[in-house]
Order: sequence, then structure tokens, then C-alpha cells
Amino acid sequence: MQGLAVSASGPLQDQRFLVLEAVGHGGMGSVYRAYDRVTHRDVALKVLDEPAPAGPGHPLSGEFAAWTGLRHPNIVQVLGLEHAAAGPIPEGAPYLVMEYFPGKPAHQALRPGEVPGRALEELARRILLGLHHVHQAGLVHRDLKPANVLVSGRRVGPTRIGPGRVKLTDFGLAERQGLREDPGRLSGSLPYVAPEAITGGAVDGRTDLYGLGILLFLLATGHLPQPVLTPDEVVRWHLSGEVPDPRGYRPELGERLARLIQSLMARQRDERPADAGAALTELGVRPPGPAPSIGRPAGMADRAALRLAVDAVRLGACRVVTLESSATRARKVVEEARILAGIHGLQACRLGRADGCHGLGRLVLRLLLQRGAAARRLVRRHRLDAGLPLELLGGVPVWSTAALRSPGRKARASHEELAGGVAAFILEASRRRAMVLEVTRPALEDTLCRQVVRRLARKAARRHAPTRSGGMLLLLEREVQDRLEEDQEPLDPPAAAPRILARPT
Ligand SMILES: Nc1ncnc2c1ncn2[C@@H]1O[C@H](COP(=O)(O)OP(=O)(O)OP(=O)(O)O)[C@@H](O)[C@H]1O
Ligand SMILES: [Mg+2]
Repeated sequence: MQGLAVSASGPLQDQRFLVLEAVGHGGMGSVYRAYDRVTHRDVALKVLDEPAPAGPGHPLSGEFAAWTGLRHPNIVQVLGLEHAAAGPIPEGAPYLVMEYFPGKPAHQALRPGEVPGRALEELARRILLGLHHVHQAGLVHRDLKPANVLVSGRRVGPTRIGPGRVKLTDFGLAERQGLREDPGRLSGSLPYVAPEAITGGAVDGRTDLYGLGILLFLLATGHLPQPVLTPDEVVRWHLSGEVPDPRGYRPELGERLARLIQSLMARQRDERPADAGAALTELGVRPPGPAPSIGRPAGMADRAALRLAVDAVRLGACRVVTLESSATRARKVVEEARILAGIHGLQACRLGRADGCHGLGRLVLRLLLQRGAAARRLVRRHRLDAGLPLELLGGVPVWSTAALRSPGRKARASHEELAGGVAAFILEASRRRAMVLEVTRPALEDTLCRQVVRRLARKAARRHAPTRSGGMLLLLEREVQDRLEEDQEPLDPPAAAPRILARPT
């Protein structure tokens, strides 16, 4: 099928998807941005260029089956497999519905050959986190290349990576680990295909690591590691060609990154890192454990999840509810949470403003003022005035105008110490009286706020069972949750780490 005709008002597919624009094209099919009139959000629709009989053997059926079990901030979320009834896609043709990711393929979003080592390590880290999830699900992506790694984000530049914005897409070739390749048939893209996929060996996570090595080499140096060759020669290079050192083109690249790139491209699988987790370790990152870091009531409708969560919190447990759906529906869930909090006597709090630690300061001040004479002791114990705009006036906590007047004034505690103190204080407040705490995206722009919310979310994940004290319900927008899960920075950095001074801005 040739490209769909699209216009600003867009043709309507199946009374639901308003097809807006073409966003990408690969060897198999085309991807369009569309507006979903049911969930009120943008989605991406993937349609095959060549028609194939619908049913379980259809390539998009296989892609959907592999992809649908995956859920990770560094992987585009697949939402469904539909069959066209009415609209520009030919009737009966299957099409995939995915999360729309406003990014570009890595080699277009970044400038190959100029990306600084640190940004490359960051990119590698996020791809590896996504791959780790794929491999833990027993799958191999088998088509890792720049076109299938999308990069985006507000703070992205041609040589920078913004927070939270790297996602793997295209699971069209994904297979279960252990599958034996057909030696006569090359699957994947020639410059990235691993030796074992050429010789008919069994594929596993290390097959994807090989593709990642080539991808990183290209972005680091602006060149593929193979000298430009005919397809036959490229195949021979994969089997026995020399693995170049990226420092041949970029002498300033760090030793750790250069070595990792070379070891990922090793001809023998045994010479590559054992899996994505091992590669993360080589980058100095602790690989995530098998369990999701933060509890998420998967697959439950928002409101049902909310009611169950409020019941648990009344009994003293902690819960996280992710606001998954459209802005309108998310608002309704928040409103309902506030009503339920009112009915059941829970305190409803919000961290939402983009005014840095001042939003946090206001929340802490409000909770302190409930504590009367104990407030002074709590400020001292948790060092709450060491970075938040709070002061003690005659033992009473007040909003510190001095901190507001001189925002550059150095605080006395590091972010980590301060975040630990503030989180412990908020948790203590929730034990005295159960709490619903809503966190919206702008709040996370502030490092201190982000660290506090991460700590609360971790604690909430651990205090799952009822306790005798009050509980806490964290309402996190989906993007907040993704951002928290993705930030793998250790909560308690090693003692030698440089101290970051908190500033009350
Ligand atoms: N969810 C998404 N959101 C936005 N753009 C996307 C999304 N998924 C894919 N794209 C864009 O569409 C392009 C083609 O998608 P995809 O890789 O799935 O197609 P393909 O035909 O299977 O590709 P290949 O040539 O790798 O087989 C991607 O390179 C990317 O630029
Ligand atoms: Mg692709």
C-alpha cells in the first residue's frame, strides 16, 4: 500500500483515529500520527506497505504479540492491534496502535560524530535499561539500529539528551530467546546484524548488544565500523573483520565508553558483556532487579484502582496510583480522590507548581503548623530549614522571606540529606493522619522535589501491607511515574560524591 492521504483535519479511521501526518517509514511499513477520539491523546498507527493476509500469521500480529507484554519508560508502549473497517487503511488490513512518541530516530535527533561521551553514555544507559526489560521478558529485539531508537525531549539538542526521552520502537523482528536463525535468510539490517544471526546460531540478549555496539560506534564517530563495502563484504566483516577502536576517530572519548563499544561488537558472543545488566554495570550503573521499582496497579481502570487504593490507605498501607488516561479523565480521578479523602478524613495535599522547592516548602509548612509545639523539634530533627524557605521565629515555623530575598544564598545541607529529611517528615505526617498526595509533572523540574518524591514512591512501594498508623496514597501523573522509574540515580550516593548545595530557588 502506498502512503495514506492525510490532511490537517485528517481522514477518520474506524470512527476513532483522526489520521494527522506521516511520521516515519521503514522497510516494512509506514507510521502515522493520529488523534484518538476515545482517549483524547495522540497515538501512532503502523500500517504495512505490502498487504498480507490478516490473522495470526500477519507480521503485525507477531509484532503485537511480542510487544504487548512489555512496559517500560524506555520502550514505546504498544496499545492495540486493530483491523481496518472504514477509513484510509484498506478494509480488513491490520494496523498497530502505539503510544505516539514525539521523537526522531537517534541518528537524526543527535549529530553523529559530535555527541559528547557523557551524552553517549546516557544514551547507552537508557537503551540498555529498555533492552534489559526486553531480555527479562525472554525476548530479543533483533533489529537494534538508530532508526528504531527514538530520542526526544525538551532539553534535547543535536549533541544532548533530555531527561526521560529515549525509547525503543519496532518489535517487528522480535523473537523469543534461543530461536535459531535461518542461515539462508538475513533478518535485521545488514550493518547491525550480529555474526550468530548470519551463521544460523541461536540468538539471545547478546545479539542485541552487538547491534547496540554498532549504533554507538556510529553516533560516537559519525562512521560505521565497517569500511564502506558491498553487502557480501559487510557480511564477511561481521564474521571476521577487525573491530576498530572508536578513539581512532574520536581520541577524546573516555576509556570506559570506548572499551564498552568495542566489547559490544565482539565477534564471539562470549566476549561481549553477558547481558544488558552486565553492560550497565560496565557503565557504572546498577542494573534494576526483576521487580518493577514502583508499584503500579497495572491494567486496572483508573477509578477502580483509586477506590481500592483509598481503602488500603485507610488501613495504613501505602499505594501509588498512576493517572494514565487523558487530562480530562485524570482530572476526574484527582477530583474523586479529593472527595474520597474528605469523606474518609484523609488529608489531601498537592505538589504541583513549577516553583521549585517553594512548593515543597509550602507543603512542609502546612504540615508543620498542624503539629503545634512539636514543630520546632521536627524542624531541628529533619533539618527542614536547611534549604527550604522556612525559618523558626520564636520556635514557630514561618515562611522565610530572607531566603526569598537572596535566592543565591547557599543552603547548609546537600540535596540528598535534605531530601531524606523532608521525605521522612512527610511520611511521619502521613502516619499521624493518612494522606493523599498528588504530584504533577512541573513539580519534578526541581531536583529536591524529585528526590523527595522518589523517596516517597520507594517507601510507598515497600509499605504495601496495612499498618496501624496512617497510610499514603501517591497520585502520580504517568509522565511523573515514568520519569521516576527512569531516573536510576542512586538515592544515597557514595560518600566521595561531590556535595551539591541546595539553593532555595
Ligand atoms: N510510536 C512512534 N511514535 C513516533 N514515531 C514512530 C513511532 N514508531 C515508529 N516511529 C517512526 O516510524 C519509523 C518506522 O517505524 P518502524 O521502525 O516501526 O517501521 P518498520 O517498517 O518496521 O521499520 P524497519 O525498516 O526497521 O523494518 C521509525 O523509524 C520512527 O521514525
Ligand atoms: Mg524500524
